Amino acid sequence: MPKSTSYKPKSNRQALESVRTLIPRAQIQRRIAEMAQEIRRDFPTGHLHLVGVLKGSVFFLSDLARQISGDVSLDFIAVSSYGNEAHTSGQVKLTRDLDSSIEGKTVIVVEDILDTGMTLQYLLRIFEQRKPRRLRVAVLLDKPERRIAKVRADYVGFSIPNEFVVGYGLDYAERYRTLADVAVLTLGAKEKKS
Ligand code: IMP
Ligand code: MG
Repeated sequence: MPKSTSYKPKSNRQALESVRTLIPRAQIQRRIAEMAQEIRRDFPTGHLHLVGVLKGSVFFLSDLARQISGDVSLDFIAVSSYGNEAHTSGQVKLTRDLDSSIEGKTVIVVEDILDTGMTLQYLLRIFEQRKPRRLRVAVLLDKPERRIAKVRADYVGFSIPNEFVVGYGLDYAERYRTLADVAVLTLGAKEKKS
């Protein structure tokens, strides 16, 4: 069992993590195909530049990008919102910048989840200063109840309730990213049977 969920010594309480599927893989893939069509419908011709936010967006971006017809290029940016536990502090820091300029490009920012919106607000400020021709946002998941910053996504895969989710790129302390489904992670402790 990983360190973060280890037993508390000399106690009969056991830390537990359980996952319950929220969005099965087939449903994710169907929705991504639709989103790709929506995006291409809005920009029927020309080059689209997808900017993935590492690391949570990697699987979403790679599936979405391959479903969008025509000329598509990719770049990545990484941010950290302090702390890697099941909540964010609202403080965002750029840890890896883009490789190439976005000036004059039609840019689609690709994010795993829109939660408080602090991360996206920070990124949009940076990107707007760099003079893209058009700037849009695609997120796989949206938790509207949690919003603090005044931001919205142009393309949303699924609106979900206020629960902590993992899988399909989303992590809890770097684990669970490679689950093919999106699942609700429940952290809890219950009495250990003796
Ligand atoms: P925001 O800045 O609060 O909108 O949060 C954005 C980032 O927090 C996301 O890109 C995720 O990395 C992380 N995050 C927010 N909610 C969840 C969740 O339910 N599971 C896993 N990561 C999350
Ligand atoms: Mg993220």
